[in-house]
Amino acid sequence: MPDVVLVQGASRGLGLAFVKRLIGQFPSSKIIATCRDPNSALALQELVELHPQRVTLLRLDVTDGDSLEAVAEAVSVSGKPIDLLINCAGVLHSPEGLRPEKRLQDVCLSNLEQYFRVNTIGPLMVAKHLVPLMTRRRRAIIANLSARVGSISDNRLGGWYGYRASKSAQNMITKTLSIELKRTHPEMICVGLHPGTVATELSAPFSSRVAPEKLFSPEEAATKLLAVIEKLMPGDTGKVFAYDGSEVPW
Ligand SMILES: NC(=O)c1ccc[n+]([C@@H]2O[C@H](COP(=O)([O-])OP(=O)(O)OC[C@H]3O[C@@H](n4cnc5c(N)ncnc54)[C@H](OP(=O)(O)O)[C@@H]3O)[C@@H](O)[C@H]2O)c1
Repeated sequence: MPDVVLVQGASRGLGLAFVKRLIGQFPSSKIIATCRDPNSALALQELVELHPQRVTLLRLDVTDGDSLEAVAEAVSVSGKPIDLLINCAGVLHSPEGLRPEKRLQDVCLSNLEQYFRVNTIGPLMVAKHLVPLMTRRRRAIIANLSARVGSISDNRLGGWYGYRASKSAQNMITKTLSIELKRTHPEMICVGLHPGTVATELSAPFSSRVAPEKLFSPEEAATKLLAVIEKLMPGDTGKVFAYDGSEVPW
């Protein structure tokens, strides 16, 4: 059971579901939940009120270096190393006009930058700031929320250039991190996780054709992924796993 878990991107969707499941499943764990705007994260505020000794809420926007530094400082002051870091933040579409591309002519520089800034560079910058604050000589885990559509060998439909590529690149970052951390954190396991198709705002515009039994609730997906995390072995570091524990090919 992890003593301290940090869930990054916890305002809603899978991140929020992870926080709820962790509270229920690991009664002695402390949970640091981060999100871009704690003032509007009402569900998280409620969890902090219900569990003031266990849940801490901090502001973190993965594209904002100052907020990364502030979170690192707050975790450092607490004096307790992080055993499990779950990077959930991700974008696929946005009210500001971000849309997954259907064809080459839909590709646009600012959208591509947005995908990479949040989905790829985000988890890397979080790792840069938080790895020094993670458990060194015991089991510790970094789990980056990836996606099967980031698998190059599994790409049969095409489209979604930016999102796919940002998740493929995130997988490379997870692998590269796993190699470096073997030297400094010998017990650390870094993985990517594919949650399946989950009924969140991210998937809503695209999930109408998904069979009901294949569309997980955020709570179901978080429960399945926590079971995968619990079973991880040192030799799993650098790989990507799906919600059922199967390895996702690159
Ligand atoms: N849902 C699926 O079917 C599915 C499938 C495969 C993979 N995934 C992956 O799973 C992860 C979670 O997805 P979800 O379905 O839970 O999505 P979601 O419900 O849309 O939630 C996305 C989260 O990312 C946060 N976020 C966005 N930009 C951020 C930034 N710059 N800094 C910090 N946080 C930021 C959002 O915060 P705000 O509330 O502040 O916007 C929100 O908490 C993503 O990485 C996604 O790619 C999801």
